[in-house]
Amino acid sequence: MTQFANLGTYPAVRLRRNRADDWTRRLVAENTLTTDDLIWPVFIKEGFGTREPVDAMPGQCRVSLAELVDHVGRAVDAGIPAIALFPVTAAERKDREGSEATNPHNLVCQAARILKASFPALGLIGDVALDPYTDHGHDGVLRNGLVVNDESLEILARQAVIQAQAGIDTLAPSDMMDGRIGALRSALDAAGLTNVRLMSYAAKYASGFYGPFRDALGSSGTLKGDKRTYQMDPANSDEALREVALDLQEGADMVMVKPGMPYLDIIQRVKATFAVPTFAYQVSGEYSMIRAAIDNGWLDPDKVILESLMAFKRAGCSGIFSYFAIEAAERLKRG
Ligand code: PBG
Repeated sequence: MTQFANLGTYPAVRLRRNRADDWTRRLVAENTLTTDDLIWPVFIKEGFGTREPVDAMPGQCRVSLAELVDHVGRAVDAGIPAIALFPVTAAERKDREGSEATNPHNLVCQAARILKASFPALGLIGDVALDPYTDHGHDGVLRNGLVVNDESLEILARQAVIQAQAGIDTLAPSDMMDGRIGALRSALDAAGLTNVRLMSYAAKYASGFYGPFRDALGSSGTLKGDKRTYQMDPANSDEALREVALDLQEGADMVMVKPGMPYLDIIQRVKATFAVPTFAYQVSGEYSMIRAAIDNGWLDPDKVILESLMAFKRAGCSGIFSYFAIEAAERLKRG
C-alpha cells in the first residue's frame, strides 16, 4: 500500500464515486470481454442426424458430421472467431498406438473439410494428442506401462500434418510430451505448412477437473491409471514458466494454461513474464460445476457466466476456451 500513500486518503478520496453510475463504471472499466475472446469446444461423433447430450455436461452434446454445419453455424452467427474440435472415437477404431490419429479420413479431418467449405473464415483448432484414439486412454504411446516420449512425438507430428492438410489452421497440442512443439513445427514446415499456427497447451495440469470431458469422449472408462507422468503437478508454478519458455523457443505462436479458474495465478505469471498471446481453457469440470449450480437455482446465470469469463481477461488472457461460449456470446449481445 505504501506506493499509494501520496495519492491521498479518505475522506478526500472516495472510490465509490466512480462506481456510482453506470456511465462512470463503463468509462473506468479496466478490462472488457467480447465475443472476439471466445473459443467454443465442440464434440464430434460418427453417424447421422443425432445430437447426443453429454450427461456430465448439461447443455453440451456430441454432434454427428451430418449435423455439424448446423451446429457450428450457431458459433458463426454469434460472431465467435474459432472453435476447437474433439472427436468421440468408436471403440473399434482405438488401438495401442492410436493409429486412427494419423488416418487422413478420421473424424477430425472429415469435420475440418466440411467446416472449411462452409465457413472459410472460421478458425479451426485441432487437438493434438492420442487419447481419443488409444485403447488405454493415454495421450502418447504406452510401452511397458510407460508413456514414451520420443516415439509419441513422431506420431503426434504426423497427426498434426494430416489435420493441417485437412484444413485445421491452428494445432493445439494437449499431450504434454517434451519437445512436441519443436517436433510439430518442423514437421509442418517440412510439409510446406508454415502458416499453420501452434497454440500450445503449455502449462497443462494433471487435474481432476477434466472428468466430464473424459465422459464426453468416452475415455474415462478406458484410461489406465492417471496422467501424472506427463501433465503438471498442481503444486507447481515456476515449472509452468519453464514449460512456456521452452514452447516459445520451439515455435509456439500462442500458449495456454489449463484448467482455467483454479490456475488464474499461473495465467497472470505467464502473461507478466512473456507478454505473448496467452489463453485459458475453462475446462469441463469448471463448466459442469457452474452449470449444476445454475440448474439447481443456486447461482444466477445472468451474473456468473460472464463474471467467470471476465476473470480470465483480468488475469491477462487474450482468449478463453469455454463451453459457455455460445451462451456468453448471446448474453454479450443482449448487453
Ligand atoms: C486430452 C485433452 C483433455 C482435455 C482437452 N484435451 C483431457 C485430458 O487431458 O485428459 C480436457 C478438456 C476439458 O476438460 O474440458 N488430450
